[in-house]
Amino acid sequence: MAKMWAGRTDGNVNQIADDFNSSIHFDCRMYRQDIKGSMAHAAMLAKQGIISAQEGAEIIQGLGDILNDLENGTLDFDLTCEDIHMFVEQELTQRLGDLGKKLHTARSRNDQVALDIRMYLRDEINSFEDKVNALIAVICEKAEEYRDYILPGYTHLQRAQPISFGHHLMAYAMMLLRDLERLSDCKARMNVSPIGACALAGTTYDTDRRFEAHELEFNGVCLNSLDAVSDRDFCLELMSALSILMMHFSRFSEEIILWASWEFKFIELSDDYTTGSSIMPQKKNPDIAELVRGKTGRVYGDLLALLTTLKGLPLAYNKDMQEDKESIFDACDTVKMCLDVFSGMLKGMKANRDNMKKAAQNGFINATDLADYLVKKGLPFRTAYKISGKAVAYCIEKGTVLENLSLDEYKIFSELIDEDVYKDIDLVTCVEKRISEGGTSFRSVDCQIAYVKERISK
Ligand code: ARG
Repeated sequence: MAKMWAGRTDGNVNQIADDFNSSIHFDCRMYRQDIKGSMAHAAMLAKQGIISAQEGAEIIQGLGDILNDLENGTLDFDLTCEDIHMFVEQELTQRLGDLGKKLHTARSRNDQVALDIRMYLRDEINSFEDKVNALIAVICEKAEEYRDYILPGYTHLQRAQPISFGHHLMAYAMMLLRDLERLSDCKARMNVSPIGACALAGTTYDTDRRFEAHELEFNGVCLNSLDAVSDRDFCLELMSALSILMMHFSRFSEEIILWASWEFKFIELSDDYTTGSSIMPQKKNPDIAELVRGKTGRVYGDLLALLTTLKGLPLAYNKDMQEDKESIFDACDTVKMCLDVFSGMLKGMKANRDNMKKAAQNGFINATDLADYLVKKGLPFRTAYKISGKAVAYCIEKGTVLENLSLDEYKIFSELIDEDVYKDIDLVTCVEKRISEGGTSFRSVDCQIAYVKERISK
């Protein structure tokens, strides 16, 4: 069939070229935004007297009917149309005759597609925000439950200092709060309307871009028509924010995978969020966490793909830009799935207090506290550090831990050590005493939870 844009050519495109060229199979998901945008456009054309009020009303009615029919399943997408914009216009024209052909006055698919994506992604960001908020709430719940479970905190994946498991979990809540900020910053910059830029240079019609932008709940209009139709930085910004979010998820997933292993056994995931092996009956695999970690690469890939697509494009619109949608849709779909499944998995996660404690008792993670004890008794930190190190070496040789050294043994290292040392190197004391703001003390964990809960309740 000849294309709606047949003009200079007869519009009969080779079948293979046409399939290659069309985007309707993936841009049809923006039908709601496309129709809403067209309704606002018709309203603007009527307000400005470019079409009559009656015509405007009929077009808006016709578009509303198409939207309803699509939503209730009585109308299917015509996949022979090149894209969603062509489909809606074709359907409108079939229904309204020549009047339908007036809708595309003072606009182009170039500003239309830029509008649709912005509107679509705005909605997507709202749903990300809800899901991230819900996940942060789950993290807070878990952190409350496990505030006084003590495990080793690690650096270089070597046992370092004792921390509260609640504290460890809240670190991720803080990261996700910043992810939320990034999403909302990105939404604010995205929420500027490109419609009215037309093909690239604006239009000779007396349009009212601000009216149309306002109807569609934008905060303003793009001030350069070439920029409006050419840039997809808002997609890149969103994918960057999503990549960072996924990076956080991936690290969290990696820890969950480690903690669930026989080597750590710090946590147990619920049966409904793990899988078995087809051959090894003993297995309980953390597939969900592994897949979230795996899908992080995919989201980075989406970002990189679009960055690469855009890097050499002269202004203004180029068909290469049609490639924006599959990347951004894939990134959005992937992240949404990950957010849902991760929340569910985390809810069912049970921590094992004894195994955490055992690990905390065996790594000399109170050696810093022994040094701090000696500082309290008057030694300079560097000297105290050396003495504590020697005590650790002694323990390793004897196959024991600092808590089990007798006072006589301690006296070998320093006369300053007294009975009160045992209290100071007790793991609970070690955690409780880290009272600096943002430290791991139980009170600090409580403050963090209260702060985060307050932030997500807004
Ligand atoms: N399907 C196109 C896209 O996604 C819509 C814009 C087409 N514009 C054009 N001048 N061919 O980019």
